[in-house]
Amino acid sequence: MKVLVVGGGGREHALVWKLKQSPRVKEIYCAPGNAGIARDAACVNISAEDIPALLTFARDKGIDLTVVGPEAPLCAGITDQFETAGLKVFGPSRAAAEIEGSKVVAKDIMAKYKIPTAGYAVFTGPEEAISYINRTGAPCVVKAEGLAAGKGVIVALDKQTAINAVNAIMVDKDFGGAGDRIVVEECLFGEEVSILAFTDGFNVVPMVSSQDHKRVFDNDQGPNTGGMGAYAPAPVYTAELHKRVMAEILVPMIRALEAEGRTYRGVIYAGLMITEQGPKVLEFNARFGDPETQPVLALLDTDLVEIVDAVLAKRLDQIEIKWRKQASVCVVLASGGYPGPYEKGKVISGLDRVTGSVVVFHAGTAEKEGKIVTAGGRVLGVTATGPDILTAIDSAYKTVDSISFDGMQYRRDIGYRAVKRVK
Ligand code: AMP
Ligand code: GLY
Repeated sequence: MKVLVVGGGGREHALVWKLKQSPRVKEIYCAPGNAGIARDAACVNISAEDIPALLTFARDKGIDLTVVGPEAPLCAGITDQFETAGLKVFGPSRAAAEIEGSKVVAKDIMAKYKIPTAGYAVFTGPEEAISYINRTGAPCVVKAEGLAAGKGVIVALDKQTAINAVNAIMVDKDFGGAGDRIVVEECLFGEEVSILAFTDGFNVVPMVSSQDHKRVFDNDQGPNTGGMGAYAPAPVYTAELHKRVMAEILVPMIRALEAEGRTYRGVIYAGLMITEQGPKVLEFNARFGDPETQPVLALLDTDLVEIVDAVLAKRLDQIEIKWRKQASVCVVLASGGYPGPYEKGKVISGLDRVTGSVVVFHAGTAEKEGKIVTAGGRVLGVTATGPDILTAIDSAYKTVDSISFDGMQYRRDIGYRAVKRVK
């Protein structure tokens, strides 16, 4: 079959890498892809958000299956449009993807169906929001309603930070229309875990648990990023917690979405805080996580095409999804300055020295005069798998040591929470 992956980051490189291992995949394309993906797939110069052009390409090429990576095309209805055109596509419909596209929709569904999450209030103007914050105080979390590339969430430990956040989102319009409404949430404390699951609209099959590292510097210091690294599985996520998450969060959410006329098919991502009262939802995403997908797919034994087929045929209960009993870690190598402004076009050296069980997924790279250069904030995701987390971390950082580019920055402590727990 011919497969098209939509997107061009580390997650999409991992998707291409995994899909390509399927004996059923004869040709694989990626739009727009990047310099690393180009070694595994035929890259097509179409933006992930240009749905009409993607549709034309898929039709002309006779693509049998399209797998969508990022949230923007999902929230814009790529799935609905491909399905209307009779094309097979993996990802939730526009209505279902609103659990990521609108934090208000997500919170209202969780409240209606009593799915554990932080308490919240919704505001359409800055004055009411600020007077609410003045009344209820800090800490609190201020969130732009819509998509803001992971930057629309401000955890405010004091009132002034919260008020500044309201002004930045609603008055200065830092995130444009995504900030027309805001959610002010109760601040939750605990350890975070990412649970991704496959669902066909009824059956819910979780993947191995994972943990992201959102802050740019070691020990979770500095501003939030798209994610500086991740590992799987996450030891904080015990069998007992898993039972609760399935019973209290994932299954009820999938049932709620069905009841609301937003039947969800694809991958659902639950970002959870493990609080003293138990697991609570921080956010739902309508897609695979980035960088969680890199270590998670590295542990997936089953053919991803078989899983996608089962989701689309609504028979996810009829296949067995197997995971390697190993650990995997992805260390992100980022451009100097990220998540702030950074330079591009730095030549990357050492990529040819990567060997063994380590895979380097490309996130933001391009090819220039035969050389691989940086082309984004997150540049590479060095992903290593081993019998346990310590071995995986060790081999990931050994590979990191052999790669370099001007201004390269990365965290040296990816997986530290897991290390603490296993020691
Ligand atoms: P989100 O995009 O909603 O996941 O938020 C990004 C990050 O902000 C999360 O990964 C958490 O670290 C933090 N966060 C979001 N909501 C809350 C909350 N209610 N309490 C504490 N931290 C939060
Ligand atoms: N790793 C966070 C996300 O994919 O949203």
